[in-house]
Amino acid sequence: MYMNPFKFGTVVSGHFFYNREDELQRIKQILIGGNNITLYAPRRYGKTSLVNKVLQELDEEGFTTIYLDMMSVYSRDTFINNYAGTIAEKQNQSLETVVKKIAKYITGVIPSVAFDSAGTATFSLKWVAGEDKERTLSDIINLPEKLAAEGEKWIVVFDEFQEITKLNGESFEKQLRSVIQHHQNVTYLFLGSKTHLLRDMFNNRNRAFYNAATVMNLNAIAESKSIEFLIDRFRESGIHMGQDTAEYLINGAQNIPYYIQFIGYEIWQSGQLSRKNQVTIRDVDDAIEQILTFKADYYWELISKQTSYRKKVLKALSQSVKEIYSKQTTLTFDLGAVSSTQKAIGVFIEDGIIEQNQPNYEFADPIFKKFVKRVL
Ligand SMILES: Nc1ncnc2c1ncn2[C@@H]1O[C@H](COP(=O)(O)OP(=O)(O)O)[C@@H](O)[C@H]1O
Ligand SMILES: [Mg+2]
Repeated sequence: MYMNPFKFGTVVSGHFFYNREDELQRIKQILIGGNNITLYAPRRYGKTSLVNKVLQELDEEGFTTIYLDMMSVYSRDTFINNYAGTIAEKQNQSLETVVKKIAKYITGVIPSVAFDSAGTATFSLKWVAGEDKERTLSDIINLPEKLAAEGEKWIVVFDEFQEITKLNGESFEKQLRSVIQHHQNVTYLFLGSKTHLLRDMFNNRNRAFYNAATVMNLNAIAESKSIEFLIDRFRESGIHMGQDTAEYLINGAQNIPYYIQFIGYEIWQSGQLSRKNQVTIRDVDDAIEQILTFKADYYWELISKQTSYRKKVLKALSQSVKEIYSKQTTLTFDLGAVSSTQKAIGVFIEDGIIEQNQPNYEFADPIFKKFVKRVL
């Protein structure tokens, strides 16, 4: 009995992870050199998995690494809580010791150790009434710099960093920048999937993070590497997949690692039921169809939220029209002014439905694209 050789929806490592050697080395080198990096790519390209591997290796090389997902941060207070907790739990000492150490550096909150029902110690913060929360925030942002022992280097990763723009307008952004720019012992890696937001944060001279990091784009994995991965993973569980079939699958997945793994997973799963040892193009189609059925409820919900104008634009985009703003497209899909179409696309980009691959637009989810094409 084999285990499914594919995995999606979580950080992947070990056998489930392929390629990215060059990116891994480049990111490590820049960080080790003490330079901050901003890494952006559309969702599901493999940023978090890649950076997870970078951090694992840096950990082994003696760095202290901190990872904070800004997706779960929705206010200044949750930032303070989550960041302090992550830092505390990363220390190689008992929480009691860590709490004492941290307390020296922060005002406005009292760190303590709480025990959950299972008796496990967890870090917690108690707010002190009447204290200045801006000051507390600065203290927390300064913690890594303060905690780093003589000669010790810390690497801090903020994932989905563009989310900070939702916190306190630009004041949070400004405060974070103004504090970390003085850090000597800490190097920062900012990750994000909303390309336009992130680029603006770092490339616009009016923004706090202007020039604060080397901005890098994480490209798609080379198709040949994905083909190799698919064929190898199937072969290891005794299943043959030809080159053409692998190419066909990658095409259906728009070469996005998440969908490659998702479709592979489905094919493998249904192959177990039918005891097949060969994957055909037909199997790829069936798997995509299966996923589409799973997700139909969610896809309908996504569509029903759109105005009728946006539905028309979505339909046009699903048919891969090259020139969405052309007269012909406007006529064919009964669209209005270019500005209205631009506005609709702006909303799709904001919602993560559409990615802008200059100068083209592409669906973030190839299976949703198929769905839209079919039902609208
Ligand atoms: N290098 C990789 N090798 C294999 N699978 C990958 C790789 N990178 C990403 N994936 C697949 O894509 C999914 C999403 O990856 P993730 O790292 O969460 O992307 P992101 O952070 O860019 O949204 C993973 O669960 C996995 O299935
Ligand atoms: Mg991610």
